[in-house]
Amino acid sequence: MDRHQALERYTKTAIVFHWVIALFIIFNICIGSFMESLEQPLRTQVVSVHASVGITILGLAVLRILWRVTHRPPEFAATMATWEKNVAHLAHAFLYFLMVTVPLAGFSILSSNAPRPSGTGIRIWLFTDIPRISVLQQNPDAGYRRILHDFFLETHHLGAWILAGLVVLHVAAALKHQFKDKHPELARMGIGRTLEGGEDGRK
Ligand code: HEM
Ligand code: HEM
Repeated sequence: MDRHQALERYTKTAIVFHWVIALFIIFNICIGSFMESLEQPLRTQVVSVHASVGITILGLAVLRILWRVTHRPPEFAATMATWEKNVAHLAHAFLYFLMVTVPLAGFSILSSNAPRPSGTGIRIWLFTDIPRISVLQQNPDAGYRRILHDFFLETHHLGAWILAGLVVLHVAAALKHQFKDKHPELARMGIGRTLEGGEDGRK
């Protein structure tokens, strides 16, 4: 195997972004899967936590994408076939797309609810209640807002479950490279050592 490639790993910034966002997404999928069945007032409180974590994911994902387009990632392992590299690129691009659109759809669900005095009902961000998307919330036609609400709820639901499925495939692919192809794949994302046990020390 090419020694140079074996040493390559993502930079510390990319690794921190990857794991913080991954933990938040897994947390949100977990609580999203049961929060609708909770009794009030617990449900409102749990949806507020979900929305707050989700908005944080959106902010981090935007920063991460900005960071990603201005930095070169390490080359894929030489052991990967060309089709595997193409599929990996496509899957990563789709993950980035969903990291932005799923929280945006969630934010749009709450924005198309009837306006309430700030600080009552579901709060977005625990410390403050960030304003809703006004073009949705200020629309005077309640019937139209309901249609939008249901549309965003469906989109959010579908997007979140596609995201969950893609994450499962993503983890399976990483484990396949790690254990079947015997390439130190996880080390690229900061878990364990590269073949040389080295770090490139980039920021
Ligand atoms: C919600 C969960 C996750 C999301 C959204 C996610 C997303 C991503 C994205 C977008 C990349 C591409 C990085 C880039 O080139 O810009 C990536 C890379 C990677 N992820 Fe994840 N990830 C998640 C969870 C995990 C988990 C649990 C593992 C552990 C098995 C993992 C292992 C990796 C590895 C090893 C890479 C490097 C791939 C390579 O370039 O060789 N990820 N992840
Ligand atoms: C990546 C981030 C997010 C993920 C993975 C996620 C995931 C989920 C999941 C799995 C559900 C349950 C869907 C169903 O089965 O019907 C859900 C529901 C919901 N999410 Fe998210 N969500 C995220 C971000 C957000 C954000 C940013 C907001 C709002 C600001 C939000 C608001 C909601 C609302 C209002 C519901 C419906 C709750 C109810 O009716 O009880 N989500 N989300």
